[in-house]
Amino acid sequence: MVPPMIDQNDQKASDSKGTEGDDTYSFGFEDVTGQEKTKRVRSVFSSVASSYDVMNDAMSLGVHRLWKSAMMDWLSPRPGMQVLDVAGGTGDIATRILQRANRDLKPDQAPAHVTVCDINEAMVSEGRDRALNNGRMDGVNWVVGNAEALPAQSAAYDAYTIAFGIRNVTHIDQALCEAYRVLKPGGRFMCLEFSMPEAELLQKPYDFYSFKIIPLLGGAIAGDRESYQYLVESIRQFPKPDAFSDMIKAAGLSRVEHRTMSAGLVTLHSARRI
Ligand SMILES: C[S@@+](CC[C@H](N)C(=O)[O-])C[C@H]1O[C@@H](n2cnc3c(N)ncnc32)[C@H](O)[C@@H]1O
Repeated sequence: MVPPMIDQNDQKASDSKGTEGDDTYSFGFEDVTGQEKTKRVRSVFSSVASSYDVMNDAMSLGVHRLWKSAMMDWLSPRPGMQVLDVAGGTGDIATRILQRANRDLKPDQAPAHVTVCDINEAMVSEGRDRALNNGRMDGVNWVVGNAEALPAQSAAYDAYTIAFGIRNVTHIDQALCEAYRVLKPGGRFMCLEFSMPEAELLQKPYDFYSFKIIPLLGGAIAGDRESYQYLVESIRQFPKPDAFSDMIKAAGLSRVEHRTMSAGLVTLHSARRI
């Protein structure tokens, strides 16, 4: 059975956190209040929603497909699984999970199910409309909600996935505690996120590509150079893989491991709720 979502005012929950104390959070290279970060991240993804998937292919020269495929290999989705895909955007990860889990479905097996949860209504609408147009509404439901206060029941999911989303979250530690809360005991946490190239030799060309080419592509394809400037800056502000592993452990998750890909450009993090 698909776990029912909880009706809660997640927006207020996250927005109020930013007003606590004098804490600041990085929005790219700028330090802003938590409330301001949440607001600006929402505006970035509202602005790029309609061209988001085309831009992913353009920016990564299609390689994001290989990274997501590696995520599926490690996650190994299976029939009957209940998955919560947080910061799921237009549903690319959800589609891949369902394709993998249900590809050899036997008549006596229940199909997998994915709930896509994203803070941004524009991204969710884009994904839902596309799924509808492609006749792919089965096995997925779409929810607007904040990773920091998920509108989801505790201990309800076999897997929690988040791809290229966690670095946009204001209170990452809170989002990780939420991941722990919603997973069933034995459930799997899997996060795909950008990291930085390991070899010093690659750093200059990577910086050139990030700061000169990607904002240009953002301007040309999405009509929004600034949002893509934020995206490349936010990669530099995200904790290194070992430091992020420590945050995952601090949230109570166990068997924390990571694998880097493409010379360190992205990292897959896996853990379990025991
Ligand atoms: C780079 S997109 C990734 C989308 C999708 N996971 C993928 O891999 O194609 C990042 C997504 O994170 C969402 N997001 C940012 N902050 C969030 C939060 N606090 N809670 C839930 N989603 C959030 C954005 O709205 C956006 O859709």
